[in-house]
Amino acid sequence: MSATSAVPPASLALEAEAERLFRALLNVDCEPGRTWDLAGCRRIAPLTLEINRLKKEKDAVILTHSYVEPEIIYGVGDFKGDSYFLSLKARESRAKMIVFAGVVFMAETAKILSPDATVVVPDRGSGCSLADSLTGDQLRQLKAAYPDAAVVCYINSTADVKAESDVCVTSGNVYDIIAQLPERRILFVPDRLMGQNIRDELKRRGVDKELITSDGTCIVHDVFDAASVTEARARFPGLKVVAHPECTPEVAAAADFVGSTGAMMKYVKGTVAPYFLMLTECGLVGRLQVEAPEKHFIGGCRLCPYMKLNSLEKVRDALLAPRPDQIVTLDEHLRRRAARSIERMFELAPRD
Ligand code: 13P
Ligand code: SF4
Repeated sequence: MSATSAVPPASLALEAEAERLFRALLNVDCEPGRTWDLAGCRRIAPLTLEINRLKKEKDAVILTHSYVEPEIIYGVGDFKGDSYFLSLKARESRAKMIVFAGVVFMAETAKILSPDATVVVPDRGSGCSLADSLTGDQLRQLKAAYPDAAVVCYINSTADVKAESDVCVTSGNVYDIIAQLPERRILFVPDRLMGQNIRDELKRRGVDKELITSDGTCIVHDVFDAASVTEARARFPGLKVVAHPECTPEVAAAADFVGSTGAMMKYVKGTVAPYFLMLTECGLVGRLQVEAPEKHFIGGCRLCPYMKLNSLEKVRDALLAPRPDQIVTLDEHLRRRAARSIERMFELAPRD
């Protein structure tokens, strides 16, 4: 008997899985204190193998936003990307179960678009400071004050807010969609800073719109400041600064590129520069370290506390036997109304 054939097949499978994880994650070092060596990958391999087996058994698909931990994205995820891409995948899905490793508003959107699937969230506490900033009742009051405005909601909003809106948008299609609306006055909710950035960008494009916004901000993006961009440029000649439109207008103006997480990834992959400063959540840097390991990133790391509530253990539990708090349920009348604003987004969004 050879030495290899003496090793039980289960151990071989575990070792192969640990090596697969290690090859995927070895370059990731965006989060202080978190790196993936072979020993660490051996520790999580039983869990990723179990989740990948359960996925088949349960006819499930796992959607992962780029901000969740890389061992979820590359260990067990079927699709990874930004809010728009993942909502398209949820809409196309024929799986019995959708596990959404992201935040609750994303899973709610998946349930709106795929009502026959069981949609689960690993952690019910994975909110979002934007989605949590505005209720349906508050939006109804705003609508009463601006009855002639088109109501545009950012996808980072609750199902109630989507149900009260004429059209939903994401950071990847917002300018093109608003530019097509016949109304001049736009009530954009719930991101005040993104509203200011939309106003500036539409002005640059020669589109005449009046924007009214509510007062939410993203707690991850609203703290980046333009002064540190100036300092970084002085220290790193040739630096390219990349920002999400949830940043302040001053930061957006100081950046070389502003876009959705998907557009930011595309920009970095297609741009030659000695260094990049990513003004967004740290997970996106992790994805780029995996998919564009030749690029160099400077700057600290900002974590979304909601996205980081996701873990492999919670994904496994949600797949195996979801607790009631992990299952997304929506009133059918509300779901249909919310679906209208999202379907309008798909009609108006530019085709890639
Ligand atoms: P994207 O749609 O650009 O991925 O943005 C989602 C988000 O929550 C950014 O903070
Ligand atoms: Fe919400 Fe900001 Fe977290 Fe995105 S990064 S989910 S906008 S809190």
